[in-house]
Amino acid sequence: MIKIQVIHGPNLNMLGHRERKIYGNISLLEIDALIHAEAERLGVQVRIDQSNSEAEIIDLIHSAALQADCLIINAGAYAHYSYAIRDAIAAADLPTIEVHLSNIYAREEFRRQSVIAPVAVGQITGFGYNGYLMALAEAVRLASNRPVVSGPPSSTRS
Ligand code: DQA
Repeated sequence: MIKIQVIHGPNLNMLGHRERKIYGNISLLEIDALIHAEAERLGVQVRIDQSNSEAEIIDLIHSAALQADCLIINAGAYAHYSYAIRDAIAAADLPTIEVHLSNIYAREEFRRQSVIAPVAVGQITGFGYNGYLMALAEAVRLASNRPVVSGPPSSTRS
């Protein structure tokens, strides 16, 4: 079964309370329930984690590299400046989709750059929580097209 890892970065646990005009009233718990329901509908396994810590996010990416077929990440503000998270994604060699609830290009200047975008397959920004559901559909497509890494044929094994 296709395995997809979703990572929510810093302050996303505050959704439903923080800057509601920008991020809406929906809580992270509600978003996660929608992601789980969509994953079930698509017939894939999803694991969702949230962390406010850069180091923890890097560890989550490292373990996703070993277990998952695709990564969906909203790195929050880290997306704008964390070269360490960028490097972790590059090292993971996992098809990665960057998600932002708000349209980062329509906001403050410092949000208009993502250091993660160059190592992601693509970015979904500005569609609210729907962005995660769009990403999930795309993740399934990316994971299905992923070459299967297999060992040498059994006849060549010693
Ligand atoms: C965000 C956009 C970031 O600029 C911000 O720091 C966030 C949320 C989004 O989902 O729109 O925390 O990643």
